[in-house]
Amino acid sequence: MECTKQLLSADSCKPKPDDESKLGFGQIFCDHMFLMDYDQGAWRDARIMPYGPLSLDPAALVLHYGQEVFEGLKAYRGVDGGVYMFRPQANLERMNRSNRRMCIPELPLEETLEHLFELVKTEHEWIPTLEGTSLYIRPTVIATEACLGVKVSSSYLYYVIMGPVGAYYPEGFNPVKIYVEENYVRAAAGGVGEAKTMGNYAASLLAAEEAHAKGFTQVLWLDACDKKSIEEVGTMNMFFVIDGEVITSPLTGSILPGITRDSVITLCKHWGLNITERKLTIDEVIAAQEAGKLTEAFGTGTAAVISPVGSIHYRGSDITVGDGQTGEISQRLYDGLTGIQLGKLEDPFGWVVKVK
Ligand code: COI
Repeated sequence: MECTKQLLSADSCKPKPDDESKLGFGQIFCDHMFLMDYDQGAWRDARIMPYGPLSLDPAALVLHYGQEVFEGLKAYRGVDGGVYMFRPQANLERMNRSNRRMCIPELPLEETLEHLFELVKTEHEWIPTLEGTSLYIRPTVIATEACLGVKVSSSYLYYVIMGPVGAYYPEGFNPVKIYVEENYVRAAAGGVGEAKTMGNYAASLLAAEEAHAKGFTQVLWLDACDKKSIEEVGTMNMFFVIDGEVITSPLTGSILPGITRDSVITLCKHWGLNITERKLTIDEVIAAQEAGKLTEAFGTGTAAVISPVGSIHYRGSDITVGDGQTGEISQRLYDGLTGIQLGKLEDPFGWVVKVK
C-alpha cells in the first residue's frame, strides 16, 4: 500500500527542543504523524500528515466502550549516526495479538512496519542524541464507528505519533519506591490484562494517585484472586533477584507480555544467569528480604527501560531492596540493553533494525 505524504514546509515545522536533558516523557510531539483507515473490510489510505487534532464523531465507539489498542517503541540515533529501532516487529506482532483480543482487525505486518520506518525517516531530525534519550513512537488503533450500542466497530483509525523523550520517571535510572496494592486490582486472568489497551491503564489510575499522594512512584499489582502473587507494576514488568536467582512472573493472562521483559530474559540466559519465570508471592519476597537474600528488584518497559526498585512498601512497612541502590544485575542489563540499542555493543539476537 502506497503511503502518501503531506509535509509541512521547513519554516512551519516546530523548533526542536534545545535542552535534551529536560525532555521528560510524552510532552513534545514531532511535526508529522501517520494515519490509515479501516472500513469495508480493508485498511486503506496510508498517509503521513502534519501532527494535529483528530476529528471524531462524539458517538465513536472508542469514546464509550474503549475498543482501542496501542503500542510503545523507540528509535535511536546510533553511535555511528545511523537511525535504529529496537525489535519493531515484536511490537507490531504484540499489537496484532492485542487487536485480536479487542476484536480489532489485524494490521498488515510488513506494510505497517514499512510505514513505521517511513515515518521515522521523515522525522529523523527529531531523534535526540543525549544519553538516555530516544524518539518514542506510539502506534494506536481506535474504533471510529458512531454507535451507542455495545458492539464491534466496523471502522477504525490507526495512527502513529512520536516525540523525543528522556527518562520516564523523574528519578531517571535511580531506584524508585513502589507501593504494594491490596485494595484494587489491575486485571484478572481471562480479562484484557495481557492486551495493551487503554482500559488497563484507566483501571490503574486511582491506585496510582493514592500511591503518589503517599510518596511512591508506582503501584505493584498482585493477582486479582488471592492478592499474593506478584503481577506487574502499571507501566513495567517486574524482576526480583533472590539468592542469585532472577525471577519474573509467568505470563498468566493478566500480565502484559513486555518486549523489554522478553529481551531481559534472553540477555540473562545469554549471560548464563539463573533466570526463571515462576510464580512469586509477596510473602516470598518479604521472607527473602528478612533472610538477607533479596539483593535486587527492577522493572522493565520500553518507556522506563530498566528501573531499579529501592524499596517496597507493604502493609505499612518499607522493605529496602538490597542496599537500596541500583543493583549489579540492573546496571548490567541497562548497559547491555542500551548498548545494543545504540549500536555500542554487538547484537547477537538481531534485535536492532537500521532504518536510515
Ligand atoms: C511503554 O513502556 O512504552 C508503555 O507503553 C508504558 C507506559 C508509558 C504506558
